[in-house]
Parts: sequence; structure tokens; C-alpha cells
Amino acid sequence: MYSLAKKLLFQIDAETAHAATMKALDALLRGPALTAMKARTTVDTPSLAVNAFGIKFQNPVGLAAGFDKNAEHVEALFGFGFGHIEIGTVTGEGQPGNPKPRLFRLPDDRALLNRMGFNNQGAAAVANRLGQHRPKGILGINLGKTKAVPNDEAHLDYEKSFRLLYDFGDYFVVNVSSPNTPGLRDLQERGPLLALLDHLQELNIELAQQRGINPRPLLLKISPDLTDTAVVEVVEVVEKAGLSGIIATNTTISREGLVSPHLNDLGPGGISGAPVATRRRDVVRLVRKNTKLPIIGVGGIFNASDAIETLSAGADLVQVWTGFVYEGPKIVQRINQGLAAQGFPRPNA
Ligand SMILES: Cc1cc2nc3c(=O)[nH]c(=O)nc-3n(C[C@H](O)[C@H](O)[C@H](O)COP(=O)(O)O)c2cc1C
Repeated sequence: MYSLAKKLLFQIDAETAHAATMKALDALLRGPALTAMKARTTVDTPSLAVNAFGIKFQNPVGLAAGFDKNAEHVEALFGFGFGHIEIGTVTGEGQPGNPKPRLFRLPDDRALLNRMGFNNQGAAAVANRLGQHRPKGILGINLGKTKAVPNDEAHLDYEKSFRLLYDFGDYFVVNVSSPNTPGLRDLQERGPLLALLDHLQELNIELAQQRGINPRPLLLKISPDLTDTAVVEVVEVVEKAGLSGIIATNTTISREGLVSPHLNDLGPGGISGAPVATRRRDVVRLVRKNTKLPIIGVGGIFNASDAIETLSAGADLVQVWTGFVYEGPKIVQRINQGLAAQGFPRPNA
């Protein structure tokens, strides 16, 4: 079924195809159809449950950030059996992102190239949407910096989003690892990173106290392009700031080993999918060697054996994005079935 849809979808511009698919999903997956779909796709195996940063996940497979930036399709997407969905990246102010076209398929590499540039409606609009209807299910909210805000004011932009969205996220992610906002990845350096994370964690504690709840789990999402030394340093900073976990990894700017023709004609952007898999595995392993904090592994996960590799490297949870495009929505159920059959997840396997 998906192979036919994929044939058609792959004929049109990737971003247009994504938008059309989401629209169709919203129309088809509602009411009883959604309930029936969920019942079909949910792998109801108690051993799949994961406890991480104070949250009980029904299964370890989540949808990575950037798929539903404005939280417009969460309800329908939960129909595919995800254990969690991460929305965003949301920035303090709404912004259009980079000029189109800005998303390309690289089928010969089982990859995507994107330079979306945090196109999103902004924190106030997303908070408003979630305030009207908070979809059921574990929701992560990924926060980034508005392009026009300089790096030395970045903390205020993240603060704005964190405050506005605080009541709607089960966990939050500080994203300083997208390659498509100029200068953003400089915030991964020790000094600026510690200042930013300290600021947000203090705010987290303050907002939690006001509400009489525990602070929200706050995670950092890191780039696969960090050197090993930088990864270890970032882990230290995350621990020092008292964060709850790490997401490894975002897209890479490396084009090493890619075979797709005319790649240089497509312009700059981050590569996702199969080419990120090896580095994702190595970064997860390195992070695990240096901390006991929970890890979400993401990058080039297409099937259960990729997920097992990621969990075995030390991740507690996994996420998919590019695999969802290439394999179709059944990827979630297939991974969960494969994990259950192999006795995964094993705590810190
Ligand atoms: C089109 C596209 C947009 C993305 N947007 C975001 C984003 O807004 N924020 C973010 O943290 N990651 C974003 N990502 C990165 C993914 O969340 C994920 O970390 C990366 O693609 C690696 O996973 P994958 O190989 O399964 O795609 C995006 C990826 C793609 C392909």
C-alpha cells in the first residue's frame, strides 16, 4: 500500500508531498477510524515500556522533531503507534524559514537533504493551538532560536518559548544543533552552552515551583558533527546544568560517502537517514560511556535491527524521521514488533 503511495509522492516536490500527506492524514485519521488504526498499530507488549526521565513510555519508538513543527497533526500521527512525538522546532517568534525548495530526497543514499531553517509559526501560536486541544500521548517540545535573534540574546528567545509552552510538554529539548540557522551550533561550545542551559534549568525550577509540580525533563539535542572531545565536553555541561538527558543526533553537514548524483547542485543543508547511522551509533555509545542520563538515539533508523543497534549502544529510546518517509508509517509497528520479539528494550543494554 505505502509502496504505491510512495511512488506517487516521490514524483512531486518533497515538501509539497509532506504537506499533502499530512492533510490527508488529518482527514482520514479521526474519530473511529483513528481509534481503529491505533488499535491495529499499537504493539501491546508490556516489556516494550520504558521509564526515562520520570516518564513512562508505552514503547521506545518516537517521532523526531521537524516532522510536525507546529503541532498540527499530533493526534493523527499517534495513530501509527508512536510511544512519543516531539513537535517543533518552535522558536520564540514565528518565521518563514529558508526559501523553497529546501527539502530534497536522495534515494540512492536513503537520505534527505534539508535546509528548512526552522520554519514555524512561533511559540505563541503553537501554545494557543495546544491550549485549545492538547492531544493525548507523550509530547516532547523542541525549542530553537529565532534566526533574527543574535546568539548573545538566545537565552531570552528560548525562555520566551519555554514559558509559553511549559504547560503542554511532557519533556522539552534545547536544540542548538541544527545546521540551518547561521551560528546556532556555536551555542554548543562550553561557555555559551552552560550559560544557556543554566538559565533554562533555573527557569524550569521556578516555573515548576509556581505550579507545585516537578521540573519538566529538559534534554539537549546534539550534532553528529561534534568531535568526540566536544561530545564528552557537552555531556559534562549537560550534567553540570542538571539536565535530564541527551538526544543524539541531529542532521550532519558531512557529505562523505554520498553517491547521489547532482548533490552539489542542491545547495547546502543537513543530511539525514542512512548516512548518519554510523555516527549516531558512535555518538550514542560515547555519550553512554560518559553519563548515566537517559539518551534518545536518532539518525538513520529504518528497521528493528537499527533500533536494536541504537539501544545496544546505550540509548533508552529511539526516534525516526527519514525512515518514516522511506519505509512508510508501518515502520513504527514493525520496529516495535521486532524489538518485542528480540526482548528489547533492555535497560541500558
Ligand atoms: C526535513 C527535516 C526537518 C527537520 N527539522 C528539525 C527540527 O526542526 N528540529 C530538530 O531538532 N531536528 C530536525 N530534524 C532532524 C531530525 O529530528 C533528526 O534528528 C534527523 O533527521 C536524524 O534522524 P533521521 O535520520 O531518522 O531523519 C529535521 C529533519 C528533517 C529531515
